[in-house]
Amino acid sequence: MKQGIKKAIFPAAGLGTRFLPATKASPKEMLPIVDKPMIQYGVEEALACNLTEILIITGRHKRTIEDHFDYSYELEASLKKSGKKKMIEEINRLNRINIAYIRQGYALGLGHAISRAKPFVRDEPFAVILSDDIIPPEETLLKDMVKLYKELQCPILALEQVPMSEIHQYGVVDGVLEKNGVYRVRDLVEKPDAADAPSDLAILGRYILTPDIFNILEGSKPGRGGEIQLTDAIKKLLKTRQVYGYLFKGKRYDAGSKFGYLKATVDFALKNAEIAEPFKQYLFEVTRKLRQ
Ligand code: UTP
Repeated sequence: MKQGIKKAIFPAAGLGTRFLPATKASPKEMLPIVDKPMIQYGVEEALACNLTEILIITGRHKRTIEDHFDYSYELEASLKKSGKKKMIEEINRLNRINIAYIRQGYALGLGHAISRAKPFVRDEPFAVILSDDIIPPEETLLKDMVKLYKELQCPILALEQVPMSEIHQYGVVDGVLEKNGVYRVRDLVEKPDAADAPSDLAILGRYILTPDIFNILEGSKPGRGGEIQLTDAIKKLLKTRQVYGYLFKGKRYDAGSKFGYLKATVDFALKNAEIAEPFKQYLFEVTRKLRQ
């Protein structure tokens, strides 16, 4: 029988240096986009794809992530007193799901973080969600990948065409287009210079992986930047099995960078029923002044 996917892994143990000093003692994943922390958007995306077994890889200074997905009795009592029933429902909505946590110990890279998920994943395929890549809820990227996995039963990397001037920030794929948006991956390069990049197909923060990645990760040595890179492990995986890329053409925010974070904040605020109108007026005012 073809295997489906139930598990989603959230590596969230990085140091978040691009947001220092904000991330000195609090997790990047807890930075809010309007009124929800980044990681909540990712968890909601997983649940929308019926990935209900969730593991978050955390580290020091990341305890607020666990608190966020737990009950807060004091807050509940206070909201009850002031009759804010709807808000109680909202803050408790995600507490009913089971989330497991494993610590990474040392932030030795994304590949190392994922290797910590082995006891949770065991012998099943799983999704990886990098929660600082924010994908709006109306997009169906992860759903499409989960569906595609059912058909291909192979690892799948989400791809996006990025301008060559930005390619050095990404893992990049050399692939052959097999059918509508689906590439057979031939090779991968982590953060190449534009001149060495095999294409403009960048890997973004959604993966479907298979458990054979763990043996490779366990034997991995630090690569670029002294980190154990997931890209290097997937490159090794290519020797033993087919890996696919799935081209995403929708909206994505790189909220791990300040500019991407601000873009996400503005766009999500403009869709937020409570503040969209006054915020729009404010933006008109700001842009009018900027044009003067
Ligand atoms: P990033 O490359 O964005 O690194 O990691 P970072 O540490 O979070 O942020 P900067 O670059 O220093 O600003 C991509 C994802 O991988 C996780 C991060 O938490 C993020 O979700 N990660 C990275 C780990 O879990 N462990 C690591 O050792 C490195």
